[in-house]
Amino acid sequence: MARSTERVRPISDVDFEVLRARAIEISARAYAPYSHFPVGAAALVDDGRIVTGCNVENAAYGVALCAECGMVSELIATGGGRLVAVTCCNGLGERLMPCGRCRQLLHEHGGDALLVDTPQGVQPMSQVLPQAFGPADITHVTESK
Ligand code: THU
Repeated sequence: MARSTERVRPISDVDFEVLRARAIEISARAYAPYSHFPVGAAALVDDGRIVTGCNVENAAYGVALCAECGMVSELIATGGGRLVAVTCCNGLGERLMPCGRCRQLLHEHGGDALLVDTPQGVQPMSQVLPQAFGPADITHVTESK
């Protein structure tokens, strides 16, 4: 399973300034007429491409899509791959910690080794979502039958 084979990359391998610039750029396209809280997300994929997304709200507030959702949709729609590093920025251009649901969403596509650009510095997903539930927890059961 990806979880056991992926290694945390050196932070120096990733240009977080480029990712932050892309996140801030896409946050300008957010549809956030209810919260007035635009968010942009950008991630480096293991083949070198960068995927981005912005939040998209709805009059039915609970239907809102976080920026990370749009970003993961672009990841899959443009060929998939594994996320290596991710950053989210708020409307002030500051780093934003992905919400709990989005940490789970991101974990699926980057695993424990995914580097997350948090307000407290770059930390692996294993630190910001400890003991994450993931695909291996399912295959552990389904493949033992
Ligand atoms: N939001 C994100 O896009 N990502 C997060 O990780 C946290 C929250 C959005 C959802 C909503 O449109 C707005 O921020 C306020 O919660």
